[in-house]
Amino acid sequence: MIIGVPKELYPGEKRVALVPSVLPALSKAGFEVVLEAGAGAAAGYLDGDYVGKGAKIAPTRAEVFQAADIVAQVLGYGANDVNGAEDLRLLRKGQYLVGFLRPLSEKNTVQEIAATGAIPLALELMPRITRAQSMDVLSSMATVAGYKAVLLAAEMLPRFFPMLTTAAGTITPARVLVIGAGVAGLQAIATARRLGAVVSAYDLRPVVKEQVQSLGARFVELPLETKDAEDKGGYAKQQDEAFYQKQRELLGRVVGESDVVITTAVVPGRKAPILVTTNMVEGMAPGSVIVDLAAERGGNCELTRSGEIAVQRGVHIVGKINLAGSVPYHASQLYAKNVSNYLTHMFKGGKNEPDMNDEITRETIVARDGEVLPPRVREYYKMPAAVAKA
Ligand code: NAI
Repeated sequence: MIIGVPKELYPGEKRVALVPSVLPALSKAGFEVVLEAGAGAAAGYLDGDYVGKGAKIAPTRAEVFQAADIVAQVLGYGANDVNGAEDLRLLRKGQYLVGFLRPLSEKNTVQEIAATGAIPLALELMPRITRAQSMDVLSSMATVAGYKAVLLAAEMLPRFFPMLTTAAGTITPARVLVIGAGVAGLQAIATARRLGAVVSAYDLRPVVKEQVQSLGARFVELPLETKDAEDKGGYAKQQDEAFYQKQRELLGRVVGESDVVITTAVVPGRKAPILVTTNMVEGMAPGSVIVDLAAERGGNCELTRSGEIAVQRGVHIVGKINLAGSVPYHASQLYAKNVSNYLTHMFKGGKNEPDMNDEITRETIVARDGEVLPPRVREYYKMPAAVAKA
């Protein structure tokens, strides 16, 4: 099968879906790669590097789509809600489109892709099972975002992160609070610790306490009933408003004592819960910084404006989105490895024979023959259950 890698269309997107170092493994597994000229340049990968590993270069986007059995993107239509629709006319029946497709968004973009006859493979739907870990792009990108969130905060904070003892006196270390200690949160903790901050973290899943402590941070325990915090997929469960209310009250003091707050709490397919209110922000010292990694899904802070930096009484609330895209070289490397692992798993021997009995395959194929398949996506769009075909 031929994998086509077009340039990313989303404005400012610098990542690329495949990098040269994954091409030998793909070739061994029976795939060929066609790259749109210059597709990797913004991430630091030149056409010559791809050619050196066996790829062909096509001069135009249309030619890549024409040649490809599988089109590999980072932000496909859906995840690219600005100009992703331009690709709809290039897709054809039976062609696979793999990437971030945001299958659980408000618009029926996956159905629009399905209507072209193409087969969307949404990497966001990767099941959280051990053997899918090496294919999990959400974890990879969360790692990058968690790291970058801390750097942004450090850059904006009018204070040092580390403790310093100098002839001019002693500098006390910055106090960083991370709310939501999933993949992004744990990386934020590790990064803040490396910069010398004193770090605390809170998560409603008590199981993460040990992970937080092993990174040298304090785990904030709130007297809240959180037995039922995790669903069977490993995701945090949606809680009721009374719970969030209580959580906000209890978190208020900890937030007020922090110079930096990094929030990462998301519940898939839903608006992010508000964990930091205007009141809590106003309780922070001027110059403090909040980086809200849930900004794209509505934000964990009441004052977050997606894609912008808001200021409230001297506190900066950073709602930048797509932080993973701001470390394009390594974000692409991780993404490419995940995609390559996924495609070699799904199309064994480079053959177009996906095994629908396999959980990874079944959950990530969003549609085939124009019909949306995974129950999770059908439920989201309130579609009746799919009728099994003979
Ligand atoms: P996520 O991005 O879904 O959520 C971020 C964090 O926010 C989670 O830890 C969640 O518990 C927390 N959170 C949600 N609502 C909250 C609230 N109201 N207050 C405080 N915290 C709240 O999570 P992420 O980073 O994707 O991972 C969650 C877990 O799933 C981790 O343990 C991770 O290792 C595991 N995982 C396993 C995979 C696999 O086995 N293939 C793949 C991806 C993640």
